[in-house]
Formats: sequence, C-alpha cells, structure tokens
Amino acid sequence: RAAALAPLLALFLHIIISAGASIDRSQFPESFLFGASTSSYQVEGASSEDNKGASNWDVFTQLPGEIKDGSNGDVADDHYHLYEEDVVLIHSLGVDSYRFSISWSRILPRGRFGKINEVGIAFYNKLINLLLSKGIQPFVTLSHYDLPQELEDRYGAWLNSEIQQDFGYYAEVCFREFGDRVKHWVTLNEPNLWSKFGYMLGTYPPGRCSQPHGNCDSGDSTIEPYIAAHNMILSHATALSIYKKNYQVEQGGVIGIVLYTKWYEPFRNITADHLAAQRALTFGLAWFLDPIILGDYPPDMRRFFSTRLPTFTDQEKIMLQNKVDFIGINHYTTVYAQDCNFSCETTTSDGNAMVITSVERNGQLIGAPTPMPYFYVVPRGLEKIVMYIKGRYNNIPMYITENGFAQNTTILPQDFLNDTDRIEFLQSYLTSLSEAMRQGADVRGYFVWSLMDNFEWSFGYTMRFGRTKVQAIQPAGPGSSRTYTSLALQTISKQFR
Ligand code: NOJ
Repeated sequence: RAAALAPLLALFLHIIISAGASIDRSQFPESFLFGASTSSYQVEGASSEDNKGASNWDVFTQLPGEIKDGSNGDVADDHYHLYEEDVVLIHSLGVDSYRFSISWSRILPRGRFGKINEVGIAFYNKLINLLLSKGIQPFVTLSHYDLPQELEDRYGAWLNSEIQQDFGYYAEVCFREFGDRVKHWVTLNEPNLWSKFGYMLGTYPPGRCSQPHGNCDSGDSTIEPYIAAHNMILSHATALSIYKKNYQVEQGGVIGIVLYTKWYEPFRNITADHLAAQRALTFGLAWFLDPIILGDYPPDMRRFFSTRLPTFTDQEKIMLQNKVDFIGINHYTTVYAQDCNFSCETTTSDGNAMVITSVERNGQLIGAPTPMPYFYVVPRGLEKIVMYIKGRYNNIPMYITENGFAQNTTILPQDFLNDTDRIEFLQSYLTSLSEAMRQGADVRGYFVWSLMDNFEWSFGYTMRFGRTKVQAIQPAGPGSSRTYTSLALQTISKQFR
C-alpha cells in the first residue's frame, strides 16, 4: 500500500532558533519538555499480528463510508515493525520526550476476560528501552481513542460502568510492567471529544447518534454522551487511584489526563456572547476538568441538564479526591461563539451549550484556514486557553500535549520540503505559549502533533499533521522499510541541543 512515508521536517524545535526568530529555547525553563506525539492506532499498523485483539477502530474502519478515503490503520506507518527507525528519527530531532499511546488490545486482546499478551508487553518494552537509551523520555497514554472490541460487544464499553474495572485492570498491568521506566502517564486522550464523536455525532466508534446518517442509526444523543463521559471520568479516577496508592511512591512518576479544547472568542462584544463563549468552555472542557479537579460537574451544566447528567456517589466523590498531577491540553484552533438563545440544534458542534460557533465576522476569517474543518490559525488562542485553565484550576501544572498544523496530502514536494507554513505556525504558537508562561502559567512541556503523517481518523490518510512526511511503506510487515527525505532542518536541530 502506498500510504505515506519519507520525512520532511518542519520542526518546532528547529524553527525556534531559525534566523530572525523572536523566540528561542532560553525563553523556556531548563526542565521544560519539548516533544513529538503519536498514538497507537494512527501509526502502529500490525493490527492483527502477534496476538493483538481487534480494537474498536479495527472494526469501525471496516464499515463502508466511515473513513473518507476508505482506508484503515492495518498498516498505518508500520511503526510496529519500524520503531527502531522511528526512534532514530525522534532522536535526530533533538526532542526531550516522545508521547505515544499503548494499544489496549495489544496488551489485553480480550480486556480482562483473557490473558495478558506477552508479545505486546515485549514490544513496548523494546520501544521504551530504546527511547531511554537515547535520552528520550516516554510520555505514555493508556488509551488514545482505542479499546478492545470485546468490551464493546460484551457490555457496551463506555455506556456500562463495568468498563471502570476493565480500565483499572489494564492500567495496573501497564504501571506494573512499564512504570519503573515511564515517569509520565496519561489515562485517556480527549475523552471530551471521544464521548461527543462516539455518542453524539456518531463519527467515531461505536458510531452512535440520534439523527441517523451513514452507518449511524442508534443511540440517544441527549443522554449517552454524558453516560460515556461519566464512565470515562470514573475510569480515569480508578486508574489514578491505583497509581497513587500502589505505584507512585515507589516509581516516582506523575499521572494526568488529556483534554481537547478550542478557544472561543465572543462573536459580538455583548454580554450574551461573552457568556456563550464561557459556556462553550464549561460544557466542552470543564465538563471533565471540574469533576476531575474540583470534584463535581460544573453547576451551569447541572442546571441545564438536570437529571440527564449522572451524579457521583459519595464513594465516587472520595475517589475523585485523588488529585491529578497535571492536565494535558490538545489545542489547535479558535472559533467565535454566539449566543443562540435556546435555539441551536443539539447535534451541532457546541449546540448543547446553546452556542453557535463560526469562523467569520464582517467578511473576515478568524485566522488563516487549514484544510481541517474548523481548524484556523489563531496563535493567541493558546495563551488564552492556558490562562483560562490557570485561573479556573489554581494554576495546575499543564502540558501542551498536542498542537499542530494540518495540510492536504496533495501538497507539492517543494512545499513540504520548505514547510514554511508549518514553521510559522509552530513559531507563533510557541510565542503565544511563552507569553502565558511569562504571566505565571505552570506549563511544563509542549508536544507537536505529530512526529509523522499518520491515519487521521475519519479523514484517513487525506490529512497530514506530520513534521515528517510519510510517503510509502514497502512492503508492509516484518522487514518493511520507508524512505526518508531529510532536510537541512535536521542540522539545525543539532545546534538546538
Ligand atoms: C487530536 C487527537 O488526539 C489526534 O489523534 C488527532 O490526530 C489530532 N487531534 C489531529 O486531529
């Protein structure tokens, strides 16, 4: 398959010191982690090799019409076979850390209903050891949108509280097997988007929605996203309390959760739109962060949803008191927020917060567009969202776990080689981040999305976020290879170190 490979490099590290740049390494603390991110399903491939069980995405991508180019992650970047090459690449970029996720169904093909897959454990051991031998810290996510399909088939995965046990069991296997070397853990990646896309819009597995389209013909979007979210929050809390109780003291690592968030600018300078922008953040982000950090759902959401929003039992509230060590933020874009006076559709992107979102005002776009719907380049949004979290959550330690620039895969070779747009993007967002840090925000690291082009969920291989251009894999499987086109930027990265 000709999916994608051969790197090009647009590097946020490298750009920082590029000629005339207004920002450089000295503007970040010595201990600040610069890194690159990927996730298991998006890069690993080897989807049914070495005893790996089927994941929710393995099944979902087989449904006709779900993925724009009809593709899947069966091969992806073939990272499972080419991880050594990838670690060389990561090392050559001069980053401090690599954020990746473990495939739950590679470790536990049938969840807690079957055996631990020792070959899967061995793969991640090899990867972690190789990274450490090059001085690169692993920053590990337990579930980045994927889970063993068996949990979906048996009991409906996130719709059933039983998943808390499964996630706790899986997390403990990972802490036990890898925790002597992994010092940064993330429980879940973007559960706020996962619950919305999986149970409101139906565009991610299990593809549930109230308004039938495509394969999506079941579910109740007025309730299910909140049940799924509730079980995600409690699964996170279960893993966190296991780590805090049994592993943290001995292993000395930290544990957090990663949420997706846009920044919202009021569409008009009127109170109703300022409140709408606040509401969009409350209903999209504080929905998860308030319970996790403050112990319960935001009062505004409770007022609006009443009993549709589940409640935490006294015992669960005690578990929620285990404090998360950091929050990971995935941030890509800023949009306008406009009050809709109780008339938005519930399935529109932020409809449940009674907010209409848009990207244009008086004929002017909010920022430079990218091919990804709703992804506009608005660097100041990063400073603003970091300051919002600092204010609402008492300056909790934060990592920017994802930030990156989308392009069509049809981009011309000379453009991906120069990669000026991506360089500019990273330069401007890092400047904005440093501004928030200058104002006291406790941000401890920044990870670019992504190390290399990969399987972009519903967009398949039509969208590229990689600072490494991936062009072709020949052939897939053991002994496969990729071709890289390295750039002069590689050289600059050395100077950075
Ligand atoms: C966030 C997700 O975590 C990642 O998987 C995805 O590829 C990027 N956003 C870009 O959409």
